[in-house]
Amino acid sequence: MDQDKVTITIDGQKLQVPKTSTVLEAARSAGVKIPSLCYHPELRPEGACRVCMVEVEGARSLVASCVYPVNEGMVVRTNTPAVREGRKMVVELLLANHPQDCLSCQRNLNCELQSIAGDLGLRQVRFDGEKKHYPLDDSNPSLVRDQSKCILCGRCIRACSERQGVHVYSFVNRGFDTTVSPAFNQGLHQVACTFCGQCAAVCPTGAIVERDNTAEVWKVLSDPQKHVVVQTAPAVRVA
Ligand code: FES
Repeated sequence: MDQDKVTITIDGQKLQVPKTSTVLEAARSAGVKIPSLCYHPELRPEGACRVCMVEVEGARSLVASCVYPVNEGMVVRTNTPAVREGRKMVVELLLANHPQDCLSCQRNLNCELQSIAGDLGLRQVRFDGEKKHYPLDDSNPSLVRDQSKCILCGRCIRACSERQGVHVYSFVNRGFDTTVSPAFNQGLHQVACTFCGQCAAVCPTGAIVERDNTAEVWKVLSDPQKHVVVQTAPAVRVA
């Protein structure tokens, strides 16, 4: 037997997986689909959102599979009624505090929250509580931050610190007032941001997006005073 592997059972399927795997990694390596939001394969897992919850035999509650290590003989179920209900509840709570403006959002049809809600069959949210409202941070030429769309997954914090070593973002405040922001809620133009765009690349929703400068470009192109004439090389006749 391979000393570096353990045998586990996921949804009745026996698997040999590296003993350093998490349940989520083991499941995905076998093609078993488990939804996730705060997990990103290139970043350290954090177990923040709980969307990836599964049942593990012997565990007292549902566990977050992205941070739960595999053990020899472990039995995992990823699609029981309790798991489906638990995931639905988590996503519904996220949506209850999220703008319902998908159709006009830059990430429409490219949003992980929207896609998971669709997969779970969520058509409406049962909860109607207070929603957070924050001003848009579009104070720089590259990125637009809309904290009303932030689900506090922390992916941008980890990408900025672990991958880029810049450490611009952190969690600010506590409880309902928690945000992910540069220190003291400063704009990105006031801190050491290099505008690399990694935070936008890993953001699962429309909370951080690349700035769409199309409108400005069209304004310049349609203004005859500012119109830049692009010189093209003269055509060469081919005999
Ligand atoms: Fe596992 Fe968020 S993906 S807790």
